Amino acid sequence: MRLFIAVELPDQHKTALGRLRVDLPGTRWVPVEQLHLTLSFLGEVEENSLECLYKGLARIQVPAFQLCFSKTGCFPDQRRPRVLWVGIEPEPLLSELVGKVRSTVLQCGIPQEEREFSAHITLARVKTDTFSGIDSFPGQTEKLHIPPFHVQEFILFKSQLTPQGAVHSPVRNFLLTAP
Ligand code: 2AM
Repeated sequence: MRLFIAVELPDQHKTALGRLRVDLPGTRWVPVEQLHLTLSFLGEVEENSLECLYKGLARIQVPAFQLCFSKTGCFPDQRRPRVLWVGIEPEPLLSELVGKVRSTVLQCGIPQEEREFSAHITLARVKTDTFSGIDSFPGQTEKLHIPPFHVQEFILFKSQLTPQGAVHSPVRNFLLTAP
């Protein structure tokens, strides 16, 4: 199955992020209920690697923490955006969690991107080469006024690709320790 590991957002934060949507042609917005912070993308994983993953992820000990939103931005750059995102302020406990999650995944024989982790929540994917109008995407210069949120667990998700887009469903939740 196709897997990834992410932090879920509270419903009220998803709704607040949904308000950043603007009508930009050639842009596919992530359904509000699917917004998440990816920690690790695993891709297709064999059934026989699952036990290793479950055990390794359950052993991770990181205290619960809080995350703050920063600005919006795009990958790879403003001239040819492919992904529109909202950033997360640096948080050492988030970096520690990502490091432990990725090394657990690697230990189970599942390759991980070498690229450094850049904490973001993907809001939209741009599907055209002639994209314009990035200037109307809000929050690029000022910090967003969306309250911080508490992270008390991380989740292994299954992603099923369908003609209507990816369907995400939680496979297993892993609790962080007391702060
Ligand atoms: P991102 O867009 O938030 O960076 C589930 O598909 C999640 O895995 C996506 O939200 C995406 O996170 C992340 N991901 C990372 N690499 C991916 C890839 N090669 N294909 C699909 N999703 C990927």
